Amino acid sequence: MIKTIRNIALLFTLIFSIVSCSNKLYKKNQEIKQTVSLKNSFKDNFYIGAAINENQIVEKDAAAVTILKKEYNTISPENSLKWMFLHPEPKTFFFDMADKYVAFGEKNKMYIVGHTLVWHSQLAEFMKETKDSTIMANHMQNHINTVVTRYKGRIDTWDVVNEALKENGDLRESVFFKVLGDKYIEQAFKLAEKADPNADLVYNDYGLCNPKKRAGVVRLVKELQKSGAKINGVGMQAHWNLKTPSLKEIETSIIAYSELGVKVSFTEFDISVIPNPWDLVGAEVTQDFKKFEGDKKMNPYPTKLPESVQIQLAKRYEDIFKLFLKHEDKINRVTFWGVSDKDTWLNDWPINGRTNYPLLFDRKHQPKKAYNSIMSLKNTSN
Ligand code: XIL
Repeated sequence: MIKTIRNIALLFTLIFSIVSCSNKLYKKNQEIKQTVSLKNSFKDNFYIGAAINENQIVEKDAAAVTILKKEYNTISPENSLKWMFLHPEPKTFFFDMADKYVAFGEKNKMYIVGHTLVWHSQLAEFMKETKDSTIMANHMQNHINTVVTRYKGRIDTWDVVNEALKENGDLRESVFFKVLGDKYIEQAFKLAEKADPNADLVYNDYGLCNPKKRAGVVRLVKELQKSGAKINGVGMQAHWNLKTPSLKEIETSIIAYSELGVKVSFTEFDISVIPNPWDLVGAEVTQDFKKFEGDKKMNPYPTKLPESVQIQLAKRYEDIFKLFLKHEDKINRVTFWGVSDKDTWLNDWPINGRTNYPLLFDRKHQPKKAYNSIMSLKNTSN
């Protein structure tokens, strides 16, 4: 009798152990499932992030915020830190949204990007109207000093100067160039360093795989270094498409910039899958593309991306990420310009009202094939 009771007790203990063990295993699996993310997959390679808009900063766009928190460890402000919003009048600064942006990054322990200090676009009107070089130099000093000091030790890296070069590699004739002359870039970098000596300082531009522009960036960085200015990185915006730039051009640029002793960042990555009006009208960049609005040829996938193009996009992302991994020692971060296809700027640029599909998450915030293709490059489950 005692033996039977002992056997029953043993049996119960055994069943209990099996159940609790499999429970633990289930929990463990769930945890692993939850931590499979871009940021964990690439944690030993580079930061990975996205640009965030105001609805996301204030956490109104819950679906996008969930993706941001789960997938990314760096953020960039899509518009909130641009001069026209932050500093619209000489003595007026609006920091509300920028403060919230930085707080969002800190709360989520992210590498926080400041975009951007000196740029001819989305600039305050008063700057465009300033013709006197001393007055403009004072405005620039006040801007950089006030903004960088406010976020000293909190914004990790600044796009100090954005898009200062033309396609041929010469300096763009921006208001800064016209009024301050060719030393304004060096001055901007020195002011930023003075305000926060520990922040990473970056020169950011598009078209940086084009050989002439690449040579221009190399010249510019060397001049900055010679002048004693601190520059930590070159930011390649990486607004690319399915065919261009070629992998070869991308690789040549990564190597050329890193040979200068700076890190390369992909700061505004997206891959457009719809036609590019420049192919039709040539390289004239200042075109007004209003004439293409509503043109069906320019908006071929208004309701759904065909599977064949979805696959092409996934393959293109995979090829590019393979290259990024090959050169991971030279790369600081890869930031997508937006969270999902729903809110990409490419729905309205360079032609208004189109339907583009350039990112890793679709309009319903679901991961696309491109997401899986990138993740499949890392076979670990973290
Ligand atoms: C874009 C934003 O995404 C848009 O919302 C805004 O209307 C225009 O600017 N290069 C840059 C970014 O450096 O700041 C731009 O962002 C895209 C091109």
